[in-house]
Amino acid sequence: MTIASHGSTKKPEDIIGRKTEMEQYWRILEKQSIMLSSVRRMGKTCILRKMCANPAEGWIGVEYFVQGKTCPEEFTYDLVKILQDQSVLKKTKWKSFSQWAEKNLGDKDFGSFKIPGFAGKWKELLTDIIKEVAESKSKVVIMIDELPLMLWELQMKGKEEAESAMELLNTLRTLRETYEADSHVRFIFCGSIGMNLVLQKFKKDFGYMGQPINNMAKEIVLAMNDLDGKELCEYFLEGYPEEVDQESLISSLLQATDNIPFYIEMAFGYFEKNFIDSPTVEDVKTVFEKTLNDTTESDQYSHFSERIDTYYQEDERKVAYHILNFLCQSESLKPEQEIINYINTQSSDFEEKTIKDTLKKLWEDLCIERVILDDTRHYKFRFNLIRRWWKINKA
Ligand SMILES: Nc1ncnc2c1ncn2[C@@H]1O[C@H](COP(=O)(O)OP(=O)(O)OP(=O)(O)O)[C@@H](O)[C@H]1O
Ligand SMILES: [Mg+2]
Repeated sequence: MTIASHGSTKKPEDIIGRKTEMEQYWRILEKQSIMLSSVRRMGKTCILRKMCANPAEGWIGVEYFVQGKTCPEEFTYDLVKILQDQSVLKKTKWKSFSQWAEKNLGDKDFGSFKIPGFAGKWKELLTDIIKEVAESKSKVVIMIDELPLMLWELQMKGKEEAESAMELLNTLRTLRETYEADSHVRFIFCGSIGMNLVLQKFKKDFGYMGQPINNMAKEIVLAMNDLDGKELCEYFLEGYPEEVDQESLISSLLQATDNIPFYIEMAFGYFEKNFIDSPTVEDVKTVFEKTLNDTTESDQYSHFSERIDTYYQEDERKVAYHILNFLCQSESLKPEQEIINYINTQSSDFEEKTIKDTLKKLWEDLCIERVILDDTRHYKFRFNLIRRWWKINKA
């Protein structure tokens, strides 16, 4: 199987496995909407796309990517268009509006989106279309990909935008409350930055007290299970010569990548680029030794440090670095007290509470794993590959 470029957008037929996850999500959707999160590159968008292409019996999935949308007006307007394109919306009274907008806006610039008569009306339009979908009796799930990022970017722009973001969240919640029980309109909010980060920021900077997602099921996309990981390797191994010892190669790949599909694909990309026609276990080792050491490959591994640099407050950021510098030294779990002691040897600037809060935040952000042993909290890096990258490049 030839690889265009790892991490590129996938066609549904090239998305492998994830049956267990998809079945689980369809089951939840019968009753409730879902907040789906994970760290970057884990395979969320692939799962959504596959769900849309192969929906459960009777369902229609609508994939809606919202990163970069600049206001609720744009969010709503584009949603109407997508729902119309998929024939989910048929008779909205706003049809004439969207036809007008399409004709008059052309390549719209929503940065200064203020159409007379529409600015401020998005809420009415959004309510109308969700009502129409609900009343159509169809089973529709609107999958809003990168919603937390869109909200984050809005609030970074200023108070007015932040308020509109909070209003959008509240409106979406009201719509779920109104229609979820008696119809089959559902939402999946999907995001790589956690909604918890967004809500914390809204609360701290704008006094937001809403609970916009507490009636949604929280699901986290983790790495692939072994069967799916194996299937993905076999998919890439198609056409490789017979002398390749597939069994040991696959087992070393799964071990090296912690079953993360993005890194499995990266390894095959490396074999291809370096004309390694019959890869061996040694080659798997080389791929990761080389790429972990190569600064030009850094963005393949740097999601966590970028996340901390962008979304953590200064104190939390400093503490997070200390924590990760300590944890990256070993694959094994470390008791919380040992981490605190270590940080105290590095600096006396941090209160114990800040360290504990930051550990919790890193854990909720899926950067580290928490295990309770003898009734005490222990931590380690969640992904060994990221631990190695941190040790080589950051610590
Ligand atoms: N099930 C899969 N089958 C094949 N490749 C996959 C699968 N899941 C993930 N990948 C590979 O990993 C890459 C990242 O997946 P995806 O874009 O779905 O992750 P994501 O969690 O949405 O990431 P981000 O948070 O950056 O949007 C894909 O482009 C693809 O190369
Ligand atoms: Mg994605």
